[in-house]
Parts: sequence; structure tokens; C-alpha cells
Amino acid sequence: MFLNEFEIKQSRIFFEKGYLISEIQEKESLKYISDFFVNATSSYSTNIKINENFLDTLNDIHNSINVEELNSFRLFIIDSMAKDKKFREHYYFLSKNLLDIVVGNELAMQNRVNLSIQMPNDDSSLLPIHADTWSGDSPFEAVVWMPLVDCYDTKSMYLLSPEHLSKITNFKSGDEKSNDLFEYVKDDVEWIKIDYGQVMIFNQSLPHGNIINTTSETRWSMNCRFKSLFSPYGDKGIGEFFEPITTKPMTKLGLNYNFPF
Ligand SMILES: [Fe+2]
Repeated sequence: MFLNEFEIKQSRIFFEKGYLISEIQEKESLKYISDFFVNATSSYSTNIKINENFLDTLNDIHNSINVEELNSFRLFIIDSMAKDKKFREHYYFLSKNLLDIVVGNELAMQNRVNLSIQMPNDDSSLLPIHADTWSGDSPFEAVVWMPLVDCYDTKSMYLLSPEHLSKITNFKSGDEKSNDLFEYVKDDVEWIKIDYGQVMIFNQSLPHGNIINTTSETRWSMNCRFKSLFSPYGDKGIGEFFEPITTKPMTKLGLNYNFPF
């Protein structure tokens, strides 16, 4: 493989652990996205307590918004994200260094960036253990996961690393409820420790999910899928779900080429 030493090391970690975490190098993109959330949150309602510290505002959002209101609040923010023409571009830029190593430089990106808001002790928006490939996603897709607050323990997500994957294959149950499956592997999963200012890319074909956030802070995180433009597609196709974002000149020429004779 024609990779430099850094790329070899990072690739090895990704193969072994199923994810990579990096400090966000594109500080401008981090600022753009952070400012977006300050503005979107404060424009939802004047009842929201805005702290001087951006992290405190988000960590403590459950003191301003109750669980019943959470879904409409989340939809308001997601709608604002979708309307912001620059949002996805900044999301790409802050993860570009990881995507270059793990996925490629000619990419398709999911049309929408998703947002999770996980309040303490809220059991209404949990993601039971799953791999995206189990429901038809292409194994060529990677997920870029960016926290807006520091995430740890149950405030974060968990991932089952490749070394424990064989355990899933051995899982036999008459009743294959995901709770049973989580119980079966819960001592082997890794709770991702990641801080605001960092970004993660993970292999979504590895089992992952979350459980009730038993910390005293609300988790805010975003996720978005990326794949190599010309890799095989699963249920999520180009156009309706993915959009090319970094198509190179020779590819454009090739796609439009007409034989002259
Ligand atoms: Fe997933």
C-alpha cells in the first residue's frame, strides 16, 4: 500500500477499534457549527437559559426544555440545519482529514445531518444495539459523529469492536430482542469518550447504540454518512439519500465523455 506512516498508523487503529477520533483541525468550521447551535437554540424560545459558556447551555438544556417538548425542539433545530446552506459543507470540512484516510477523496455525503439530543434519564429516544448494515445500508458507508458537548459513559454511544464481533455471530436466542443482544455483549462494548472539539468516524457495520443517559448532563451529537462515490450502494441510494460532494475533474470529464467517431 502506498500510504505514509501516519496513514498506516491511523488505518491500523481504525481496523482494530472500528473508529478514529481526531481533534477538529478546521477551527472555522467548528466555530460556524457552534455558532449555529447557539443561534438556533436561542431562537427556539426565550425560555431557554443561555449561558455564557456554550457547553453549559447545551449540557443543561433539560432545565429549559422538558422531555415532552424535546421532539418539537429537536425538529425545529433539524429543520434549521437543513435550511442552512453552509452547514453540510462545514460538517464535511471538519471531518475531511479523517475521511481522507478512511473513505477517500471523491465522496458522496448523506443529504441530511442528523441530530441526537439525549436528556438525562430520558428513555424516549434510545437507539437499541444495531449495525446499519443489518437494515440494508451499504457496508461501504462510514458515519461521522460529532459531539457538541463532552461525551462519556452513558452520555455517549457504545461500539462493539471487531475483536468481539464473533460473539455476535455466536449469539443464539429463541427471542432475538435487541435487549437480549445488548445484555449478551454489554461487557465487551466500548463507551466512546470524546470531547467537544473532536470528531469521530466509525464503521457503522459494527454493532452500536446507546442506553439511558444516567449522567446529569444532556448529550448533543450529530451524525452523517459518507461513502466513496463509486462504491456499491445499499438501500440508501445516490440522489434521494446521498449526494456527490467532491467529484474530481477527470471523473466529470469521464462521465460526460462521448466517443468522437
Ligand atoms: Fe446506527
